[in-house]
Amino acid sequence: MIGLIGGSGLYELPGFKFLEVKEINTPYGYPSEGYTIGMLSDRKVAFLARHSSKHNIPPHLINYRANIWGFKQLGVERIIAINAVGGINEKLRPGMIVIPNQIIDFTKLRKNTFYEGPEVVHIDFTEPFCPQMRNTILNIAKNLGIQFYGSGTYVCTDGPRLETKAEIKMFKTLGFDIVGMTGMPEAVLAKEAEICYLMIAVVTNYAAGLTGQPLTTTEVLQSMQKVMDIIKKTLSIYIPSLPLERNCRCKKALENCKI
Ligand code: HPA
Repeated sequence: MIGLIGGSGLYELPGFKFLEVKEINTPYGYPSEGYTIGMLSDRKVAFLARHSSKHNIPPHLINYRANIWGFKQLGVERIIAINAVGGINEKLRPGMIVIPNQIIDFTKLRKNTFYEGPEVVHIDFTEPFCPQMRNTILNIAKNLGIQFYGSGTYVCTDGPRLETKAEIKMFKTLGFDIVGMTGMPEAVLAKEAEICYLMIAVVTNYAAGLTGQPLTTTEVLQSMQKVMDIIKKTLSIYIPSLPLERNCRCKKALENCKI
């Protein structure tokens, strides 16, 4: 099964056949909401709106552990995450889509592991995003003529406030490309659950201080809306074309990581 995390309405993919909504309870509490299960071609897909369909859970209060645990319980082996981001790299304009290959964690307040003892695990996180999933989507983009920016470093902040001009200046100096509030600990929890994880980042705005204008949530939502059709079309082709077998290390991420 393939997991899809994103904004509400994302499961209205061309060709998506609804089956059921599954409510799941986990040792970490309830996920953001029930998982919408359906079929896309011959693939079973479980969709979750991370902020809930009502969009009433802010990024710093999302129960990331319950969300990923729920996917694992459903038998999900791969997760595709859609994330809104601010563009730090000046090549990344609003409306562009980025498939990042690295992540930096600037959050301070979140539960970021399933392993809080007595079992101690140090997961390898050298490659935070599944290479097989990245290769597959980049090939598809090439064939479809969809313009993706094929790499980049995503930095995650706690939010919910947007960044200061100085923070973005620092991130830019450090070579980070995009900034968002939801990539961590989602990506690392997926790794601890041995689930492959791919991020599709949508640049919704220039990051703070880059244009001289204040940022608005309205602009973020409008940019996201504009790109949604491209994302849905891409997903409806991408999901059925993912290889059936995983050939990456994500599936055995826990091997040799436990003390
Ligand atoms: N900063 C952090 N998170 C975001 C942004 C941003 O500029 N845009 C969309 N999500």
